[in-house]
Amino acid sequence: MTPIDLRSDTVTKPTAEMREVIARAEVGDDVFGEDPTVNALQDKVARMLGKEAALFVSSGTMGNQLAIRCHTEPGDEVICEENSHSFNYEGGGPASLSNVQLRPLPGLRGVITEAQIQAAVRPPDDHFPRTSLVIVENTHNRASGAIFPLAELQRISAYTRSHGLKLHMDGARLWNAHIATGIPLHEYGALVDSVTVCLSKGLGAPVGSVVAGTRDFISKAHRFRKMWGGGMRQVGLLAAAGIYAIDHHLQRLQEDHRRARRLGETFARFEGVAVDMEATQTNIMIADVAKAGLKAPDLVVKMKESGVLCIAFSPTRLRMVTHLQLSDADIDRTIEVIEEVLLASGLHPKYGDN
Ligand SMILES: Cc1ncc(COP(=O)(O)O)c(C=O)c1O
Repeated sequence: MTPIDLRSDTVTKPTAEMREVIARAEVGDDVFGEDPTVNALQDKVARMLGKEAALFVSSGTMGNQLAIRCHTEPGDEVICEENSHSFNYEGGGPASLSNVQLRPLPGLRGVITEAQIQAAVRPPDDHFPRTSLVIVENTHNRASGAIFPLAELQRISAYTRSHGLKLHMDGARLWNAHIATGIPLHEYGALVDSVTVCLSKGLGAPVGSVVAGTRDFISKAHRFRKMWGGGMRQVGLLAAAGIYAIDHHLQRLQEDHRRARRLGETFARFEGVAVDMEATQTNIMIADVAKAGLKAPDLVVKMKESGVLCIAFSPTRLRMVTHLQLSDADIDRTIEVIEEVLLASGLHPKYGDN
């Protein structure tokens, strides 16, 4: 039997309809700027985000790293949140590709505040690195898919703009924040200097991300993308999947959000299991079994034996991510497996057996 795969929203495979669109895509040499489908995708995403221009890139990591490279000079300091993707999961790219250092700040549910940023910005003194960029992550992967609150983002944006700093949003899952809150994408876009969005996560495209910003920023990013080997040729095949994904898979993200909450509520019913339901606002659910004295990797193995795949995010934290290729029946079955595994591990439901 095919396992129910909740390891990530990146595990989806192109649907039959998406494959048809890929097969029919008009293409050209994108290094010459001649791929009409890539151009259409870039224009579409730039418009949605309210930015002047956008660039199709191979991955979210490439989008974020290009933004860091374009907004900084070697020796600069970049403020970010300590659990952010750019700090933890991009292979030390900022040090290697941009020669900058990161200044991670402790966040609450992935959120750093304007006050924290203000306190961390370096005064102009040649002893210090120059603070030039702030990165925020929306939604936040390690913080259970929590949404960055608009009011805090507005405060940060006003501060960075009035102090000559750039603000980049790692919006790998900004689509989820938009669907969960109803806040238009361009309202988020208006507050930041650049933003990366991924097509290959909740939207279900096989490959690709888009980074957006001013025309000047994108022309700089275009040059570094080429330098880093990311100039691709008839890549309209992939851009077509991205356009299809935006047109057909955006609104349905609310189903993913509803399902992730059901998973969180199931874990939270057990003694010793902590789920931050306030943070579980989108398609990521993290359960912490530290108080139950259990180990997340052991639970992952037991769930796998019952046909449910998830990942250990730390020795005590287990992550499940909902996506396009799961059904309500898959979630029902996953809930049964969670209950079986936790009961077999000696945990008790908080409110009796029913
Ligand atoms: C918040 C966030 N940003 C960026 C990325 C990087 O995306 P990619 O895997 O396409 O490089 C991820 C990937 O999971 C992510 O969760």
